[in-house]
This record gives sequence, C-alpha cells and structure tokens, in this order.
Amino acid sequence: MKINDNFLKIQSSYLFSNIAKKVNAYIAANPDKPIIRLGIGDVTRPLAPACITAMHKAVDDMADEKTFMGYPPEYGHKWILNAIAENDYRARGVDIDESEIFLSDGAKSDCGNIGDILSVDNKVAVCDPVYPVYVDTNVMAGRSGDFVNGGWSNIYYMPCTAENNFLPSLPTEKVDIIYLCFPNNPTGMAITKSELKKWVDYANENGSLILFDSAYEAFITEDDVPHSIYEIEGAKTCAIEFRSFSKTAGFTGVRCGYTVVPHALKADDGTELNGLWARRQATKFNGVSYITQRAAEAVYSEEGKKQIREIIAYYQNNAKVIYNGLKDCGFTVYGAKNSPYVWLKTPDNMGSWEFFDTLLNEIQVVGTPGEGFGPSGEGYFRLTAFGSAENTAAAVERIKNYFAK
Ligand code: MLT
Repeated sequence: MKINDNFLKIQSSYLFSNIAKKVNAYIAANPDKPIIRLGIGDVTRPLAPACITAMHKAVDDMADEKTFMGYPPEYGHKWILNAIAENDYRARGVDIDESEIFLSDGAKSDCGNIGDILSVDNKVAVCDPVYPVYVDTNVMAGRSGDFVNGGWSNIYYMPCTAENNFLPSLPTEKVDIIYLCFPNNPTGMAITKSELKKWVDYANENGSLILFDSAYEAFITEDDVPHSIYEIEGAKTCAIEFRSFSKTAGFTGVRCGYTVVPHALKADDGTELNGLWARRQATKFNGVSYITQRAAEAVYSEEGKKQIREIIAYYQNNAKVIYNGLKDCGFTVYGAKNSPYVWLKTPDNMGSWEFFDTLLNEIQVVGTPGEGFGPSGEGYFRLTAFGSAENTAAAVERIKNYFAK
C-alpha cells in the first residue's frame, strides 16, 4: 500500500490548528489568565431567530412520517436554490439558473474539492498572503511542485502588499487557475468592479479559470465593490464562485455554503464544468441536511434578512473599533471597511510570529500572524471582528496599553 505522498510535502499542520495548539498550551500553563480570541474568523453571535424557528419547525417535520425527509437532493432542495438565485443574484441583476447552484457544507470544502475536476497539470496562481486552503489543497493534489525558499515551485504567487494596495497584478506568465478572494481574507481589502473586470478579461483572453471566493460579501459597504463576480460582464465563461453562510449568517457551526458553476463555463475541449461538478458532488457528497437547508432558506425571509443585517452591523462595528483603536495608537491598519478583518503592520518590523507570541504572552490576545498566510504576510497581523463587542473593546484596550508603554 502506498500513500498519496503529496501529503508528506506539507510542512506543518493547518494554520488554524497550529495556532489553536499554541493557545491551548498557553491556557494549560496559565489557567488564571483570560484569553481574548480574535484569531480564526469564527462567529460568536447566536443564529438569527428566523433561522432558529425554521430549524425547530424542520425538526418537527422530521418527527412526522408525512413530512419526514430522507436523503436530501444532491445539489439542494428547489426552494433553497430558488431563494439563492432570487436574492443573491437576480436581485443584483445577475441571471443565475438554479441548475448552476450547488449547495454544500461550506466554501472551504468546495474550494478544495473543486480541484477534483481540474487536471493536475494546471498552473495555479494565488495571492500572497492567501487563505491557506487554496495552497494546501493544491499541494495535496500534486499541483504545487516542491517547497523551496518559502514558496511552492509550481505555484505562481501574486504579492499583495501595501505597495500595491493589496491588489494582485495580472500574471506575467500563463496561468490556468487563479484563486481570488474578495473582500479578501486575510487582508480585509476589497476589489472594485473595474479592477475585477481586468481579471475577467485576462481569464477569458487566456483560457484561465477564476475560482472566486466571496465568502465575505455580506460585509461590503461600498457601491463599486461587487458582491459576486458575475456582476462583471464575461465572468460566466471564466469563473466559479464560492459562497458561504458561515460569515453571512453565522453558520460556522451549522455548515452550509454553495458553489456556482455556470453552464457557459467550458474547458479548452468544450466540456461544461457544470456537468463535471454535478457528477463529482453526486458521487462524493451526500447533500446538506434538511434542517440546515430550512435554516438557510430562512436567511432570505424578510425577518431573516433584517436580523442578519443587525448581526453583520454588530461585527462591522467591532471592525471599526479595532481599526480606529489601533490607528489612534499609531498602528498602520488596513481592511475593515468592507470586511470583518483588520490587517495591521507589526510595529518596529517585528516578525509576525514574534508579534503573535508577544500578544499571547503579554496581554493574552490571540490573532493570526500574517506569515501564516504566505511569505508576503510577514510583518503583518490579522485580527477578526467576530468576537463579542466587550472582548473586542477589551482586546483593543490591552493592545493600546501595552504598546503605549
Ligand atoms: C479564517 O479565519 O481565515 C476563516 O475562518 C477560515 C475559514 O473560513 O475556513
């Protein structure tokens, strides 16, 4: 028996598991020191009441043989696919058909699984820093080459730093698959419609595929920032979009997301990717539970929308508190405006892991070191706005007091 030895190439454990281990070790050694976690982007507000009511009702449906549900439809019930098409697309002037939407257990799985339908010979481009899942899953699949000098030899890195306002430049060599995440994780920066149009044009001209992760679209506040890549003309022939209910509706523990694969999207040989993804999902994925689908449907009800806007506004306020608090204290800060993430420059050129250790050991605040997202993240640090308002304010106070010294 032989293993997939691509797994042996991955240098360490998954970024957030690694951080959790460090934090747990600290807590074990210092049980009396209360920690504030602004590291992984995990939500803390309870679900919207409309979702809870829908879930309770769905549980009752399961208790009655007349309404009981067995296996869910592979790609999602018609009513949830219709609610998504109407609210997330048609309401924004984008015509997406229900047969182009595939419900799943979240954007992270889909961003990784999508590689199943793509050749290992494709050249992959990622932003740097980047959500580690895009890179790690390509390493696992055998698309990455070897790890040399802090990067993978067959991955094309697009540095996103203060110098380019955290927007990648178009590749200068031919790439086949381009991962874009906007509003961005980890930098919290957004892309305008006109900037995104350049990527869509590049992809259509070069026969490249854009894998567009818009998990954070609910945090957009500016009109010229697209919520979906399909708001850009030409995107249906070059892009797959990943969406998540995790950050939009607090479903990190409930698990639901979806992927859009337009029929117009074809490989070089004319094969529709929609059919391949449908085949992949039908074989390897059992569908989203009925109770979860009902909760997701409630996100689009009138009261659900209102309640969710309030929860997002709560986190948006946290983002402002972090951004303004750190700025006042002399930090150089980015993001927050269209995102739940604040990306800061570490003081005095401190390494990002050194800054992580300082915050953990000295003031018990957990964030995410920029280097964990790629070499260009070195010297930066990410804080999330998903904590409670009290913890967020307390963390900012601790940082201010410590660095004012
Ligand atoms: C993050 O902190 O980057 C996200 O929570 C990770 C994720 O959504 O999987």
